[in-house]
Amino acid sequence: MSEALRLTDLSKSFAVGKRLFGPPKAMVHAVQPLNLTVTTGETLGIVGESGCGKSTLAKMLVGLLPPSTGQIEIEGAVLDNADPALFGKRIQYVFQDPISSLNPRKTIRQIMEVPLRRLHQMDKATRAARIHEIFAAVNLREEFLDRYPHEFSGGQAQRIGIARALAAQARILILDEPVSALDVSVQAQVLNLLADLKETFGLTYLFISHDLAVVEAVSDRIAVLYFGAIVEVGSAREIFANARHPYTALLAASAPEVGRPIVAPETAATELPDPLSPPLGCAFNERCGFATDRCRAEKPALTTDETGRAFACFNPLSKER
Ligand SMILES: Nc1ncnc2c1ncn2[C@@H]1O[C@H](COP(=O)(O)OP(=O)(O)O)[C@@H](O)[C@H]1O
Ligand SMILES: [Mg+2]
Repeated sequence: MSEALRLTDLSKSFAVGKRLFGPPKAMVHAVQPLNLTVTTGETLGIVGESGCGKSTLAKMLVGLLPPSTGQIEIEGAVLDNADPALFGKRIQYVFQDPISSLNPRKTIRQIMEVPLRRLHQMDKATRAARIHEIFAAVNLREEFLDRYPHEFSGGQAQRIGIARALAAQARILILDEPVSALDVSVQAQVLNLLADLKETFGLTYLFISHDLAVVEAVSDRIAVLYFGAIVEVGSAREIFANARHPYTALLAASAPEVGRPIVAPETAATELPDPLSPPLGCAFNERCGFATDRCRAEKPALTTDETGRAFACFNPLSKER
């Protein structure tokens, strides 16, 4: 099986409190060096609380943010900014907020034409034919093409956002909370559409969400992100039912219902650690009932067990509970 994505030691830090002279006051490590591969045709879910680094990761993958360290390979080619068009044809980003991600001053036709012209140098007739084809695939009426983004509902706007990503003919879509801004009834329609499109066009998805039930329903595999680091990776069928990392177990326990986003239970330490003074050891140690001195002093590395489950924990939960 071929690889759609390979991330090696990929990290991103932001300088905060920049001064005119001298170094910045502090660095926020939004994404800690991480390693991950996504197989062609797979849907990899990325789940984690707000602020854990999901969007930062996603934006690096499409070249919207330069990484601080590491490497991104897309279908075997190392992502660099030398040829944005080359990567635009391979990987595209679908934004969380569908309406504000579309240029308000452009008609839908103008928005749809940009990738066709820029990435594929299509002439007018070819562009029209291609837009016709994509609009049929995402169940949008062609009369919408002459309207402006604000005239659409959230669900329609997200279909347009997806259509724009497909216009680039990218085979990999980075879906950053694609249904989080939509009503629950509309969420299901968009999720079904994404499933159909995946089948029709043979797409690979990286599906980001803070909604456990959504991620579980759409993914083949899931990576759990905490404080900028992957704490566990496993099959969607297994990972929550049989969590090895205590944080994964906490997520599973805190989101039992469909459509319910992650809410941390009322415990003493429910907040993410302070990004400006990150804990020395495991970032989860203050919220963890199993933490030992070692967890407070040393960061556990992500290691894969004999079943293929990967987790970063010195005291993992037992396999069958
Ligand atoms: N441009 C930026 N400058 C400084 N800090 C940032 C910037 N973008 C994101 N961050 C910080 O990085 C962390 C991860 O943010 P983000 O990737 O948006 O998380 P998520 O998408 O999971 O909610 C947060 O602590 C956030 O405040
Ligand atoms: Mg985000």
